[in-house]
Amino acid sequence: MNICVIGTGYVGLVTGTVFSDLGNDVICVDNVKEKIDSICRGVMPIYEPGLEEMVNRNIKEERLSFTTDLAEAVKKSEIIFICVGTPPKDDGETDLSYVESAAKEIALAMNGYKIIVNKSTVPVGTGDLVSKVINQYKKNDADFDVVSNPEFLREGAAIRDALSPDRIIIGAPTKQVAVKLLELYAMIGKPMIITDVYSAEIIKYASNAFLATKISFINAISNICELVGANVNDVSKGIGLDARIGSQFLEAGLGFGGSCFPKDIKSLVHTSGKFGYDFDLLQAVLKINEDRVPHFVSLIDEKMKGVKGKVIGVLGLAFKADTDDIREAKSIEIISALLEKGAKIKAYDPVAMENTKKVLPDITYCKSSYEAAEGVDALVVVTEWREFKLLNMEKIKESMKQPIIFDGRNIYDPVRKKKMGFEYYGIGRGYKG
Ligand code: UDX
Repeated sequence: MNICVIGTGYVGLVTGTVFSDLGNDVICVDNVKEKIDSICRGVMPIYEPGLEEMVNRNIKEERLSFTTDLAEAVKKSEIIFICVGTPPKDDGETDLSYVESAAKEIALAMNGYKIIVNKSTVPVGTGDLVSKVINQYKKNDADFDVVSNPEFLREGAAIRDALSPDRIIIGAPTKQVAVKLLELYAMIGKPMIITDVYSAEIIKYASNAFLATKISFINAISNICELVGANVNDVSKGIGLDARIGSQFLEAGLGFGGSCFPKDIKSLVHTSGKFGYDFDLLQAVLKINEDRVPHFVSLIDEKMKGVKGKVIGVLGLAFKADTDDIREAKSIEIISALLEKGAKIKAYDPVAMENTKKVLPDITYCKSSYEAAEGVDALVVVTEWREFKLLNMEKIKESMKQPIIFDGRNIYDPVRKKKMGFEYYGIGRGYKG
């Protein structure tokens, strides 16, 4: 099939690349010329395992191309995916201006029947908005249909998630349109849910909101564990093995960050309010999440008897492992709060340091975890990178000024760390008991 993907952010670049890898002819469009030029040279704008190799292979095999010429790409395609950014406004509402301008440009370029697919995460009703904009701007009687086909890929596992999703959601206005999408996804061989556009739009937000609720739930449980001296990891295992609950997204820690969960939950609260429903459950989910960093920083402050003038090593800056993304990363909040209290910071992350330097230029960036630990008064784990789990902790302990660890992601075994002579504090592991 001839496909056009508008927007080469996480979703667009991965989606377009995977569609081309499945044998389709794909044109990816972006209005940032430098980005398009750099992808054509084989330099990816994001760090995503497996992406670069797949892009280069499909460019070479001439199934995948990149351009800034949206009109030309639309003309050559039968299915057009809108994968542009949907950033939040101050009040949580989703800014749909990029979606609207993509719809307008599609309308101006349409030269025949097109299926226009919203893949960006957009509030319920956006399909109607896209139809309205296209009807307003199209220059001929070319027909079109608008479909909602939300994307569920996770950063760091994006290729795998796009090639092997748990399910594919197709919200289409008619059976014929749904069948076209079914054909496109047939090779993936995963369950497909065919529904109306509104339901598909809600499925995306409801999924993210439910996962975020699981995280805030276990974080709230971790607070109780700390107060009574229980171990949240065991509690998490104990409840997760109940098949009705499931063990995923029950890791207590510093809360959820990234470009999706915080903004999507706020957007769903906003949309619900707009339609007259006060989603107070999700407001509590957000509140619990917002309390994570102050809670952790006050633990550090309390156990270190103040951090003023102390040097703190920070392991991990990315919002989660396997990505260089620092959007809504807990590292920024934690480091800013510690700096505010007068601490000095030495930080290390395997891939997110360049991005962090733009936001926090005045801290010391280290070449390795060992360098970040050298001479520090405490070590703080912020991101659960695998390499941090495999460190030579004897070497780390010897080089630290004081062997204190604050493990914000529970990556270490408290008993073993204490045996090694560390003063260890994790999340929900009974340190107040
Ligand atoms: C998420 C959704 O998983 C994905 O389906 C959607 O398309 C985009 O948003 P992503 O933001 O890449 O993906 O990250 P994810 O792995 O879901 O983690 C989100 C946040 O939750 C991270 O900050 C992570 O550290 C945190 N998290 C996750 C926890 O704190 N505990 C957990 O048990 C799981």
